[in-house]
Amino acid sequence: MASFPGKLFDALLDRTIAAGYSRVGYAVRERFWPALDPGALDGATVLVTGANSGIGKAIAAGAAELGATVLMTVRDRARGEAARDDIRAGLPGAKLVVQRCDVSDLADVRAFAAELTASQPRLDAVIHNAGVMPSERTYTADGHELSLSTHVLGPLLLTELLLPALVAAPDPRVVLMSSGGMYTQPLPVDDIEYRKGRYRGATAYARSKRVQVALTPLLAKRWPVMVAAMHPGWADTPGVAESLPAFRRLTGPVLRTAEQAADTAIWLTATTPTPPSGEFWHDRRIRPMHYLPTTHYSDADLNWVWQYCTIAVGLV
Ligand SMILES: NC(=O)c1ccc[n+]([C@@H]2O[C@H](COP(=O)([O-])OP(=O)(O)OC[C@H]3O[C@@H](n4cnc5c(N)ncnc54)[C@H](OP(=O)(O)O)[C@@H]3O)[C@@H](O)[C@H]2O)c1
Repeated sequence: MASFPGKLFDALLDRTIAAGYSRVGYAVRERFWPALDPGALDGATVLVTGANSGIGKAIAAGAAELGATVLMTVRDRARGEAARDDIRAGLPGAKLVVQRCDVSDLADVRAFAAELTASQPRLDAVIHNAGVMPSERTYTADGHELSLSTHVLGPLLLTELLLPALVAAPDPRVVLMSSGGMYTQPLPVDDIEYRKGRYRGATAYARSKRVQVALTPLLAKRWPVMVAAMHPGWADTPGVAESLPAFRRLTGPVLRTAEQAADTAIWLTATTPTPPSGEFWHDRRIRPMHYLPTTHYSDADLNWVWQYCTIAVGLV
């Protein structure tokens, strides 16, 4: 097996964005990756949110292929069952269980977690993949901006409530699916719920993905589990087709497949030894949390965002 391309070359690929995030970057890097142990997740139970579509469906299939029982957590049971049947058609005997939860709805998250912890004493990994780019300013029943609630508040609350099951596993892991779009945004300390100014879904999305990544080191200190944030590169998924049709037209031929975009989430869940906690990953390597000088924040700002989120989900 040839060694992984030099750090400098890999970093250069990353900074070019288009090459690193597209299928080109994946093709260059994956030639150097050792294969995962085919039974790496035997006996493990892995929860994947947004598992009925795109990258989440590919993560569910990939984890099942490594032997896991996958709890496919979806907001629409029929769509979840269709995805489960589709995965099973290619992977007969895959251990897939469809469960319903709208992760942006904090009451739904609480009810779901209570039911799950009653029936599932051990959970080896939770992959917070569910994502949304709202087409217009939208607030949840709890009064939170939809992308903040889907990407940050729901996952924070769900993980907290599932901790008893996670700590029962020998090597528990939590993965937060962020986005390279977060590189463009600072922490939205002045308007975390995006109540002011003209609303742009792509901005709301990127702001909330920035919050996800910024909180990751704090979550790694708080939770006795390996916590990783990651971005999948650019992939051709139903979500991109619906929310970013112009981007898809422009980049179509070089977009990754959902399976390629799912790779790092599966690797973070299955690889040994356990990756370091609290980091931001892409293509199986730790990446910087900032490219732009304008996105750096103070400890006080980070602490304010942390306080806001913990109060919002009722942790303090
Ligand atoms: N594709 C890319 O290039 C790319 C790039 C960077 C980051 N990402 C991230 O990767 C993740 C997957 O994206 P994708 O491209 O695969 O998009 P996708 O095809 O739209 O899949 C998103 C999934 O999330 C589910 N979901 C949305 N809101 C939910 C909620 N409140 N509760 C439960 N499930 C919910 C969707 O369910 P429904 O089918 O019911 O809507 C769907 O299953 C997202 O976090 C996205 O931000 C993707």
